[in-house]
Amino acid sequence: MGVRFLLDGEVIEIADPDPTGTLLETLRGPLRRTGTKEGCAEGDCGACTVLVGELSDGAVRWRAVNACILFLPMVHGKAVMTVESLAPQGRLNPLQACMAANGSSQCGFCTPGFVMSLHGRAIGALGSELPVADAIAGNLCRCTGYGPILEAGQAVSRLEQDDSGVAAALPALTEAGMASGTFEGRQWFVPRSSDELAAVLAAHPEARIVAGATDVGLWVTKGLRDLDCLVFIGDVADLKAIDETPEGVRMGAGVRYAEAHGALARLHPDLGELVRRIGGLQVRSSATVCGNIANGSPIGDGPPALIALGAELTLRSAAGRRTMPLEGYFLDYGKQDRRPGEFVESVFVPRPSAGAIVHVSKLSRRFDSDISAVLGAFALTVEAGTITAARAAFGGMAATPRRAGACEAALLGQPFSEATIAAAAEALKGDFSPLSDVRGSSAYRIEAASALLRRLWHREQGAAVSVLDVEA
Ligand code: FAD
Ligand code: FES
Ligand code: FES
Repeated sequence: MGVRFLLDGEVIEIADPDPTGTLLETLRGPLRRTGTKEGCAEGDCGACTVLVGELSDGAVRWRAVNACILFLPMVHGKAVMTVESLAPQGRLNPLQACMAANGSSQCGFCTPGFVMSLHGRAIGALGSELPVADAIAGNLCRCTGYGPILEAGQAVSRLEQDDSGVAAALPALTEAGMASGTFEGRQWFVPRSSDELAAVLAAHPEARIVAGATDVGLWVTKGLRDLDCLVFIGDVADLKAIDETPEGVRMGAGVRYAEAHGALARLHPDLGELVRRIGGLQVRSSATVCGNIANGSPIGDGPPALIALGAELTLRSAAGRRTMPLEGYFLDYGKQDRRPGEFVESVFVPRPSAGAIVHVSKLSRRFDSDISAVLGAFALTVEAGTITAARAAFGGMAATPRRAGACEAALLGQPFSEATIAAAAEALKGDFSPLSDVRGSSAYRIEAASALLRRLWHREQGAAVSVLDVEA
């Protein structure tokens, strides 16, 4: 079975796709859309940015994504726009014309990627409510300097685009049930419901689940791995829900960080800031919250923050569901509590109570679009001056995202005072023996983690401590 997608009104059919072939390879190769560039091939530079559109409640919803780590089955049934789409007869669109007139391009290698990110923002693509600087934080330029690019993005910040033809054409591209295929003995599946997903995984428990591919993509482009049996979950309709209730927020396994941004920010502003700093917008427009959990990475940003808030994870298989505290999912480095045939179905994050003290800090070597050296997350309940509940969780400090038991014990039942915080910051040093690596030495990580707790205290005392100004 093939992959079909819409490119400027034309249905592109790839009859026998390699399921780990990337959209970028197809665009630059057989389709000769060489405006889309390859820089890093790992989602970091944005040179390969394209827009992918899919129907949502009858309208086309566009997302800016990195084509270099997008596998072909992930665009099945969708629309794609490249930089060439904006200037069909060679006439630059207003944004491109503004970039050219404003000196926003020198060597030009990065320019198509910036144009696509800015065009996405101008037409209301996912995340377009963010400032221009956020929309292009996932795009790198080595020569122009960002000033003229930001100016162009601000000058042409809204563009009308008629998507009626795309909306009318998309439904014919997909079949009613699951898409699937085999390429050189390697099977791939695109289920449309979680029942279909559970059935596929029961039949192929060894299959690799692919959500946004912002981790798995790199295993192929950088790790040169061959992945045998793949199940793409991006089109599973019932995994896309975000349920916001007074009790909290439940996010299905298909929910991307850029889609969850608002709901998480409404749970607590620190979560909003944290999401803003996960990758660039192209990464967040593909990466799922549950993929960030399922991968079991010790330096994933979501898990420690959600653990501190008391999140619960629901796993499902053909045999049924089970729910566990999120911290229980992480058994050891590279080892999670997921049985053959199971998939992560959703994560539920309870809403902090009105008086709760929540504090999340990400320390990274670069502010935007960088992996954490240390991430500290705290949720305290203080009643009549006494700490009656305490959760502290960290990323980057151990083989898994983990709670800090000694630190929590030093807080619980104590007065909420500077002395208690100092004692808990000291106790925290016994909770972890972190590794030294390129992001920070073991000693640095321990000192930094303690400092993040003290930071909570100073912030509560009204000090001008912002989660925005944290850089390692
Ligand atoms: P995928 O790559 O599709 O899958 C990741 C893993 O989870 C795979 O093992 C897959 O099999 C498994 N999986 C996915 N969904 C399920 C499921 N429902 N059930 C069971 N298993 C599942 N991460 C951060 O935390 N902070 C950052 O700042 C950050 N920056 C990044 C920047 C770049 C340039 C890139 C490329 C990545 C970055 N990441 C970052 C890592 C990545 O974006 C996140 O971990 C992301 O949330 C992974 O989600 P995904 O949907 O892309 O997962
Ligand atoms: Fe760098 Fe794709 S080539 S993000
Ligand atoms: Fe040369 Fe941006 S203009 S990399």
